[in-house]
Amino acid sequence: MKQEIMKVIKQKKLAPLIFELELQGNLVKEMKTPGQFLHIKVPREDLILRRPISLAKINPERKSCTLIYRVTGQGTSSMAALNSGDFLDVLGPLGNGFTIDFVNKEDPVLIIGGGIGIPPLYELAKQLNKKGAKIVHLLGFQRKEVLFYEAEFRRLGEVRISTDDGSFGVKGHVGDLLEQLTDDFQPAAIYACGANGLLKAVNQRFHDHPNAYLSLEERMACGVGACYACVCPLQNKGNEAKIKMKKVCDEGPVFSTGEVVL
Ligand SMILES: Cc1cc2nc3c(=O)[nH]c(=O)nc-3n(C[C@H](O)[C@H](O)[C@H](O)COP(=O)(O)OP(=O)(O)OC[C@H]3O[C@@H](n4cnc5c(N)ncnc54)[C@H](O)[C@@H]3O)c2cc1C
Ligand code: FES
Repeated sequence: MKQEIMKVIKQKKLAPLIFELELQGNLVKEMKTPGQFLHIKVPREDLILRRPISLAKINPERKSCTLIYRVTGQGTSSMAALNSGDFLDVLGPLGNGFTIDFVNKEDPVLIIGGGIGIPPLYELAKQLNKKGAKIVHLLGFQRKEVLFYEAEFRRLGEVRISTDDGSFGVKGHVGDLLEQLTDDFQPAAIYACGANGLLKAVNQRFHDHPNAYLSLEERMACGVGACYACVCPLQNKGNEAKIKMKKVCDEGPVFSTGEVVL
């Protein structure tokens, strides 16, 4: 993990309140694992705490990485004002990221994402596609207007989409897409990122699967394992008296299903 002042080389609005930001710098050499994140000092002096944003794309040939973020508060709204040529103080790459070593050519893989949990799944899908995995993506959005990266994911595998209001794809949420999967689809690996309800549904369905992973988004402060702001309880297997905790920033954000309490 290193710190760098990276250069903004592109900022593009993908949908209402959703932005794609491309940053260039030497730090990209350290970025290899999908599911890791950058801890960003947003361009506002009064906002002291860094904001965690996942790596959506790593582009080694351009010495750049791409982030996709939704403007939710003051920090992300200050990022939306950045233009090409501006600079951003970045710490990273942080977190454990997704494990893909065991995935082989032709293995069926299930990727499940909801809303702004989808960005880290893009670099993951890229790397799995490169290994020759057969990917099925289940992606959930609020409505058609806020859809992003549909075409990009389609280039990497099958895509099934749900929207809460039915304005695109299946009406409902990702859990509904999950229920439509037939039993003859037996994925070698499952990866999910999104709201708590989505993670709970995936956790329940794939509780005992040996290779099912959930990426959590917990509120963070230091981002490097020093402050314990981001802890979440481990599942108590019944024989421990004390509840054990894990830090999402450096022991996560990716956990196996059945590992943590959601
Ligand atoms: C590992 C990880 C990866 C993430 N990846 C992305 C991504 O790729 N794209 C994206 O749009 N968002 C992502 N988020 C959520 C993003 O960090 C928050 O939306 C953002 O910090 C909100 O900052 P703000 O100043 O705009 O909002 P504010 O509400 O003003 O933030 C106030 C404080 O709360 C913290 N905070 C608020 N919401 C969250 C949250 N959901 N998770 C963690 N901290 C929060 C902020 O860090 C800040 O300290 C990720 C979160 C985590 C933990
Ligand atoms: S944010 Fe400080 S320990 Fe995780």
